[in-house]
Amino acid sequence: MTEAVQPLTARRSGPIIGRVRVPGDKSISHRALILGAMTVGETVITGLLEGEDVHRTAAAMRALGARVTRGEDGVWRVRGVGVGGFAEPAAPLDFGNSGTGCRLAMGAVTGSPVTVTFDGDASLRSRPMARVLDPLSRMGLRTLDVAENGRLPLTVKGPAELYPIDYEPPVASAQLKSAVLLAGLAAPGETTVTEAEATRDHTERMLKAFGAKITVKPHGEGRRITLHGQPELEPVHVQVPADPSSAAFPLVAALIVPGSELILEAVMTNPLRTGLLATLREMGASIETLAVNADGGEEIAELRIKAGPLKGVEVPAARAPSMIDEYPVLAVAAAFAEGQTVMRGLSELRVKESDRLEATAAMLRANGIAVDIEGDDMIVTGAGHAAGGGMVTTHMDHRIAMSALVMGLGSEQPVAVDDAAFIATSFPGFTGLMRSLGADLG
Ligand code: S3P
Repeated sequence: MTEAVQPLTARRSGPIIGRVRVPGDKSISHRALILGAMTVGETVITGLLEGEDVHRTAAAMRALGARVTRGEDGVWRVRGVGVGGFAEPAAPLDFGNSGTGCRLAMGAVTGSPVTVTFDGDASLRSRPMARVLDPLSRMGLRTLDVAENGRLPLTVKGPAELYPIDYEPPVASAQLKSAVLLAGLAAPGETTVTEAEATRDHTERMLKAFGAKITVKPHGEGRRITLHGQPELEPVHVQVPADPSSAAFPLVAALIVPGSELILEAVMTNPLRTGLLATLREMGASIETLAVNADGGEEIAELRIKAGPLKGVEVPAARAPSMIDEYPVLAVAAAFAEGQTVMRGLSELRVKESDRLEATAAMLRANGIAVDIEGDDMIVTGAGHAAGGGMVTTHMDHRIAMSALVMGLGSEQPVAVDDAAFIATSFPGFTGLMRSLGADLG
């Protein structure tokens, strides 16, 4: 995939104007392929995100025995092997840059008595996997080999018999929750996950759509999820809505480039994904909901965004799960706001595709913005504009690359990134889409 390094520069642009639909949601795309592979019969997927990360998951599902095809019409079809039916892959599964694909697949293979090696690129090899191996081991998964500190590459073997568990994740992570639920599909009896804070619930919604018996109840600030194991999953038609985490980039560009007016079509507005919209509205952003609809079991909305002044706000730690991937681009909006924006409780940002807390701070500092990191909090002092002129190191992180480029569209001097290649993991066509709206990228 992303072998060749691709430097890219964003220059101060005229207004961001137009109407676009960003590609399909990454979280839902991974889940549709994995659940399709665990279901007997043909799952049909429209609007699948055709990014590198999702291609890796498709390849992994093929290597595990599922038939995954793409029609000329862009519709994907998965002929699954059933819960517990994965075949032993001939070679290691390489998830590239994708934590979601890798961790969810670990949960999925736990229910099949096969030996599987998981691997990834340098970024994924630096990310924690012990957090997933922990509960999966309690369910019976054996770790045959693992790199230092619970990192990739690692080799696991699914047990002949699986145990359901009652699990309380130590961190707010939808990947962790989903890995346990996907493993729980093959376990007899009830697998329970109790989340102290609610995280994105696409796995729960999709399991229900595929016919699994699953209940979700409020539990304090979080939720208690109970899955009855060994269901007969029924294939469904999954319609993947537009990814709000990708929409965030043209959205923030339109807020900070004077005179902009942008319409974003069919953005998924699952309430566990809308923390950025809430925060930007508190900052004074003009984001109008034009129409609300439903698409494939998820709420969607058409949004109209107009440029205008922003003010700094305090973002509570409790909001982090609903906007975890949006902090780098929120930090860009904060740089263009008047006053301080305080973002609290960002410890999970340290274990993303890069240490996103440090990478975001470095991105802003390189472009003349004052940033402090105090413990797990980040404080950005905005002055209503940004000097720019910096070269941003992206650390194999697509969201740092896109955030820096968005910043450059509104900065006085150009902003360059060392490598834009990783944008293809989540947002293929980003450069073309942004140019079509008036962005000066080159
Ligand atoms: C995701 C969950 C989040 C998010 C990632 C996608 C998912 O990770 O950062 O981009 O699809 O479940 P964590 O669960 O590790 O917070």
